[in-house]
Amino acid sequence: MADSRDEPLVLGIETSCDETGVGVVRGTTLLADAVASSVDEHARFGGVVPEVASRAHLEAMVPTIDRALKEAGVSARDLDGIAVTAGPGLAGALLVGVSAAKAYAYALGKPLYGVNHLASHICVDQLEHGALPEPTMALLVSGGHSSLLLSTDITSDVRPLGATIDDAAGEAFDKIARVLNLGFPGGPVIDRYAREGDPNAIAFPRGLTGPRDAAYDFSFSGLKTAVARWIEAKRAAGEEVPVRDVSASFQEAVVDVLTRKAVRACKDEGVDHLMIGGGVAANSRLRALAQERCEAAGIRLRVPRPKLCTDNGAMVAALGAEMVARNRAASDWDLSADSSLPVTEPHVPGQGHPHGHDHVHEVSKENLYS
Ligand code: KG4
Ligand code: ZN
Repeated sequence: MADSRDEPLVLGIETSCDETGVGVVRGTTLLADAVASSVDEHARFGGVVPEVASRAHLEAMVPTIDRALKEAGVSARDLDGIAVTAGPGLAGALLVGVSAAKAYAYALGKPLYGVNHLASHICVDQLEHGALPEPTMALLVSGGHSSLLLSTDITSDVRPLGATIDDAAGEAFDKIARVLNLGFPGGPVIDRYAREGDPNAIAFPRGLTGPRDAAYDFSFSGLKTAVARWIEAKRAAGEEVPVRDVSASFQEAVVDVLTRKAVRACKDEGVDHLMIGGGVAANSRLRALAQERCEAAGIRLRVPRPKLCTDNGAMVAALGAEMVARNRAASDWDLSADSSLPVTEPHVPGQGHPHGHDHVHEVSKENLYS
């Protein structure tokens, strides 16, 4: 290790969607979390445009890495590894991050760790609340995913119990916000309006909660349609749409189902720790209701602060540091971005090469200095 405290110093790069995130961590300590977002460039399209995102990543990459290293007060030479989101995510956007990580790792002679975006969303909580309990139940809710995952070791064992069968929770927030003309991304605005609305004003449907429905799967497309129809009917009748009440009632339907199923999964599996991650975990009502229901069920709830819930580089660095600490195999130089990397693969280990520094030094010396 480069540091006497014996904890791995890792830089993490995240480019799976529209944020260029670069974080630096030492073990489970957050040193820097630099984010450049292209969200404003997508706002007028009402969603992320992959080509726009890729170009923005390319422009932001080097300055964001420099900013993160400066903020952390460390030199790139002292790093014990470079971690990068290998997937899942937008192919072109991921490619920018993976290429940058390879270039830096190769030039610096550091091991490269291609890691899973979803496992990173879980692992980031170590920066907030210390080592993850094993096992941990994770409710992962973002713009692209809604899943219940059970992990006994975040570097090697993530088991999916259930997932959305249609829209992701964040996607539902974004779509309803669009119908209400509230802009993009929709989650934060709906969260704000909902605070002044009545969550019981309108009884919107709770998807997949019938006795014969899959216990841990989610469905938000029926809810989305119901809310959109309700709004259309109001408009057709020439009535004003009560944005605050619609926001609160819609949000309540989403978080009611999410928390109910997460608590049930914990009880069924005998797991007493629930972590909630992903962009939607920034939702204030989700945090409050999860706290209430976990307390009632004797479950310890762990939710990182909102800035660590949305996409960021620190989460990638956190998982990378855990890979180094647990001596997991580094990735090969031909690591590729995998837009549909399965959640069951927390990282992309190399094929049969010895782990870490020796291998990397060997290759880099050969190619850089000979
Ligand atoms: O994890 P994330 O930053 O990116 C993905 O990997 O998707 O999540 C982004 C999603 C967006 O759909 C956004 O609307 C939602 O998270 N989100 C929220 C809140 N903040 C962000 N949803 C509900 N309430 C919030 N406060
Ligand atoms: Zn994410």
